Amino acid sequence: MTRWLSAYFCAMAEDLVITRGDKQAQYESLIPQIESLITYETDLVANLGNVVAALKEQFNWFWIGFYLVKGEELVLSAFQGPVACTRIRKGKGVCGTSWAEARTLVVADVDAFPGHIACSSLSKSEIVVPIIRDGNVIGVLDVDSDAYDMFDTTDQASLEKIVDLIKF
Ligand code: SME
Repeated sequence: MTRWLSAYFCAMAEDLVITRGDKQAQYESLIPQIESLITYETDLVANLGNVVAALKEQFNWFWIGFYLVKGEELVLSAFQGPVACTRIRKGKGVCGTSWAEARTLVVADVDAFPGHIACSSLSKSEIVVPIIRDGNVIGVLDVDSDAYDMFDTTDQASLEKIVDLIKF
């Protein structure tokens, strides 16, 4: 492939600008970059992969991934981090509860959440954001930290904004 073609087909991935500073500033830098990465790409797997990769590069959380609704279950999709549970039923765990209740759940201590599904014993806190289209939950974005109490309303607002950018 010529240099020109190679630049055309990979214009962005190497160019992610990582910002230090407070969490709000980090999201303010990252969100437009995610928007540029996915706006003109129609392939869902490519976009989900780049969203989790961008979040991983910026925040280096323990686990970041999408689960998508297939029938009665959430099925593991693009993720960054250790291998994880493949299928989660509606109402089960933090992810299945976020699906059933169609709302973001912020869990400061996963052991205190009844029914939490421990894909890894290293996970200590978690945020799960439902992906809602036409009034239905079609998937969730799940982020796990190996530290307690890592997520707050800044993460909630920003991650909700990020999932809204994705075309399904
Ligand atoms: N902890 C989640 C399961 C998914 S993993 O964390 C990747 C839950 O309780 O639904």
